[in-house]
Amino acid sequence: MVERTLAIIKPDAVKKDVIGDIIGRYEKAGLRPIAMRMIRLSKDVAEGFYAVHRQRPFFGSLTTFMSSGPVVVLVLAGDDAIKRHRDLMGTTDPKKADPGTIRAVHGTNIEYNAVHGSDSPDTARFEISYFFPEMDLGVQ
Ligand code: CMP
Repeated sequence: MVERTLAIIKPDAVKKDVIGDIIGRYEKAGLRPIAMRMIRLSKDVAEGFYAVHRQRPFFGSLTTFMSSGPVVVLVLAGDDAIKRHRDLMGTTDPKKADPGTIRAVHGTNIEYNAVHGSDSPDTARFEISYFFPEMDLGVQ
């Protein structure tokens, strides 16, 4: 089933000049960018995006990091895009991620982990509409 998912290339990856490498990996995997913006998140916008993590001990540090420099936010479309994107990213902690995954290659630690991806259809709908409110969410 064709799905849409939200990806973020985080400030650490943007600083490392690997935007092109990461988007190339999406394209080679058949995950087509259908919307894309490069923006600097305010702390407020980062907090709203990660609101489900508000009670976590790392919330303050995560949202400071996410607002520390520009990010690239994209909507990717493809068959089974949510799960396939998560497989391509690797697990949250780059040190535990499978070799060759984006986080294993470009991440530094569990916080500076290069990329974000929606983890379920409900999350994808929320996250896509958070950054691309104009998108038609009828087609998932
Ligand atoms: P992401 O996929 O963007 O979703 C939530 C983010 O919180 C996660 O990637 C990490 O960057 C960060 N994160 C998750 N767990 C921890 C942790 N234990 N310590 C610090 N940051 C974390």
